[in-house]
Amino acid sequence: MVSSVQPEPFRIRMVEPVRLPDASEREKALERAHFNMFGLAAREIYIDLLTDSGTGAMSKYQWAALLCGDEAYAGADSFYALKESVREVLGFDYVIPTHQGRAAENVIFGTLLKAGDKVPFNMPFDTTRAHIFNAGAEPVECVIEEAYDPSAVLPFKGDVDIGKLEDVINREGKERVPLIMVTVTNNSGGGQPVSLKNLREVSRVARKHGIPLFLDAARMAENAYFIKIREREFSSMSVREILRAMMDTADAIAVSCKKDPLVNIGGMICCRTEKMYHTLLPRVILYEGFATYGGLAGRDLEALAVGLREMTDEAYLGHRVAQVEYLAGLLDEAGVPFVKPAGGHAVFVDAAAFFPHIPRLKFPADVLSVEVYREGAVRGIGLGTLAFENEDEVTGEIIPPKLELYRLAINRRTYTNSHIEYVASRIIDVYKRRHKVKYGLEIVEAPEVKGLKHFLAKLHPVSL
Ligand code: F0G
Repeated sequence: MVSSVQPEPFRIRMVEPVRLPDASEREKALERAHFNMFGLAAREIYIDLLTDSGTGAMSKYQWAALLCGDEAYAGADSFYALKESVREVLGFDYVIPTHQGRAAENVIFGTLLKAGDKVPFNMPFDTTRAHIFNAGAEPVECVIEEAYDPSAVLPFKGDVDIGKLEDVINREGKERVPLIMVTVTNNSGGGQPVSLKNLREVSRVARKHGIPLFLDAARMAENAYFIKIREREFSSMSVREILRAMMDTADAIAVSCKKDPLVNIGGMICCRTEKMYHTLLPRVILYEGFATYGGLAGRDLEALAVGLREMTDEAYLGHRVAQVEYLAGLLDEAGVPFVKPAGGHAVFVDAAAFFPHIPRLKFPADVLSVEVYREGAVRGIGLGTLAFENEDEVTGEIIPPKLELYRLAINRRTYTNSHIEYVASRIIDVYKRRHKVKYGLEIVEAPEVKGLKHFLAKLHPVSL
């Protein structure tokens, strides 16, 4: 065995039973779900790696904090507890709670973007992209070219190509670029980190042009951990110090707190100036709630205040990254192609290489999600043409994105290493019979809203 197992740095004192549905139940479930993983019921799944969002286990300290929730409509103690934690861990003076990450995106993009604007990114995630479209604007991917090559092994495949970024700003003019956003880690590109050196360069470009730099910081602690272990000049700093240094590059951050901050629900915007804070608040009040709770209960704010501190624990982060790597190592031994190196929160199987005989417009990543569920009631998700298609502006023709990935997102502090071994074995079994998978998927019905098809599409197998 190439991969060494790192034991869990926690004990489990509360358990949630899970059950493996038999093959005929799985077939029925697939039909009922219209072959879309979002259509499955959780009870039909044994190991659920659909997402690492809101699916983690809270610590006993977080559960204890829930009891301290102050539910005052305005100015609750719980808001001040969160503000204090943000100041301590991230160094921002202003905090706006939101109900989750995309709510923060709605507030930021809905307030700052106008039709025709461009937002340079390394890469946006699906809902982030959809929110930018919804504001009439467009994201422009500026990630380094190697990010599109699953087999290229680089320590910081989430980095922004500074040349591409400068080109966008020069081409569009800075009045058409109201903000720059960098996703840490880069989820759409395989959970790949961004180096501190690169964040500082992006920050310099942003300042030079007078454009605010936002981080999409859902997985900021995992990113900081990768910097510690991969970026030599910062290896003697603690994850906390690195995280602060990352934050120091940005004017503001949008956070889905359902990821690294270890809560089941919650999001936030943090910023440095009163001006930015007051610019964003009206939309918070319209869509989320008053400025000091933003769609969350006081108890949620308390759990988040604790989670923000816990997410920087290096024993926890070390195990987390090792667990993802363990899954990647097991797949690698069997020759299964995936994005290398393994990401911080997930393994992204290269579905285009796994099923080269399935045309991109027949959604190979989603076929893989169906086959892995069929094999062992494991749910992952396709992040390929169905989720990230582009349309030719003139002909309306569908253009597949550069990557066709199938993601296995590891829930935080939830599954054990033996669950991971089970998942690997199911995927390897599908890999062994991959040539016998002779169908693709077609859309029977899907919503017209740009960027959201994959959540609601009804699909149907068609033979090749
Ligand atoms: N930004 C990134 C990088 C994300 O991965 C997500 C969500 C969001 C923003 C939106 O946050 O879900 O709290 O509204 N990603 C999840 C995923 C859903 O499965 O990767 P949200």
